[in-house]
Parts: sequence; structure tokens; C-alpha cells
Amino acid sequence: MDFMKLNDAIMPKPTVSVGGVSVFKGFLSSSDQLQIVDDLRLVARKAPIFSPKTKSGKPMSVRTTAAGAFGWFSDHQGYRYVSQQPSGLDWPEIPASIMSIWKIMAGCVPDPECCLVNYYGEGARMGLHQDRDEANFDWPVVSLSLGDDALFRVGGVERGGRTESIWLQSGDVAVMGGVARLNYHGVDRIKFGSSRLLKGGGRLNVTLRVVR
Ligand code: SIN
Ligand code: MN
Repeated sequence: MDFMKLNDAIMPKPTVSVGGVSVFKGFLSSSDQLQIVDDLRLVARKAPIFSPKTKSGKPMSVRTTAAGAFGWFSDHQGYRYVSQQPSGLDWPEIPASIMSIWKIMAGCVPDPECCLVNYYGEGARMGLHQDRDEANFDWPVVSLSLGDDALFRVGGVERGGRTESIWLQSGDVAVMGGVARLNYHGVDRIKFGSSRLLKGGGRLNVTLRVVR
């Protein structure tokens, strides 16, 4: 199924396409952003943020938590979705404020089962990777940017190809769907302190995915 065609009539139009990823600049109003940050504070109270480790045991530079049926975890066994937090508790529910963005952006598709929350402090980055641990790539990944500006890089479906970059700002929404669903992407760096949304600076990235 081509979700882009399916939803073409009802989806808002992207401001720009970066390597096939649709970016909706400034989609979230200031009050939307404040509401989402408040809701994420509650998520972090129920599911404390932690530093995932790579297979070799190195802590990643982003810190993470999640909401929904699945969260994301990584240790010496590698990256994977898990249905419980490291503490053994379930993940909290995905906040309604975030769910409503999925409904607008993804349209008539299943609800997301994972709302992954990554915090980028000063110097944090994310290497180029594909999001390919989900069972069905027909469903898009919807990504919300909150806080400091981030240099987002997008390539194609093969590692090592040409890439394009864009500065994602607080309130931007990016949708990786259709032919761009498996495109390599990552964050080269953030401009620490460029936004006043988060006390203490930094950036939150929220990604919504259908896992099964
Ligand atoms: C990700 O690929 O999970 C992160 C993308 C971003 O931080 O904008
Ligand atoms: Mn990703």
C-alpha cells in the first residue's frame, strides 16, 4: 500500500522535501510545543530517561525514554523494541497531544505503538541509520522536533550515497514515509542553546512508529 497516495487528499502539504523526507516547517504552534513538553515531563516521571548503550558497551550521546506498547532499548545484545522499561514496568501511554499529530500526519493508518523520546544535550548526535526494526514499512515514521536546532541529514536507501541536510527547528514535523521510509538519516549536531523551549537547553526528538 502506498500510504502517501492513500493520504494525499487529507494530509497537510509539506513545506519542503529533504532526500524524500517531508518536512513541515513550524507545524507545531508555541502552545502545542509547550503542551507536548509538559506531557513528556509526565512520561519521563513514569519512565525515567536513561542512556542506551551500544553493543560494545559505549553509552550513546542521546538519552532516551518512550511511551506506548513498546519502547526502545539497547545493550550488548543490540538495539530492539521492548514492551517493558528497564525497571520492569510497562511504558506510559502515548500522550493525546502527540497522538493527535500522528492522526493528522499519518492519516488512516494504525495507531503508533512506540513514541520514542530522544534528548540531545550539548554535543549529542545520532549517526546515519535506517529505521528498520518495525514489521511493516508501509506505515510512516513521524518525527517532532522540540527545542534546539538540529542539523538533520538524509541519504538514500544505501549507505554511502549522496545526502541532503536541513536544520530542523522547534515545532518542525518530519515524515519518513513512502519511498523515503527506509532512507538513511541522522543528526550531525545541534546548536545548543538556540531555543528557549527547554529549560537548560537541548533538543527533544519524538518519533512515532507502528512496530508490529
Ligand atoms: C532518529 O532517527 O531517531 C532521530 C531523528 C531526529 O532526532 O531528528
Ligand atoms: Mn531514526
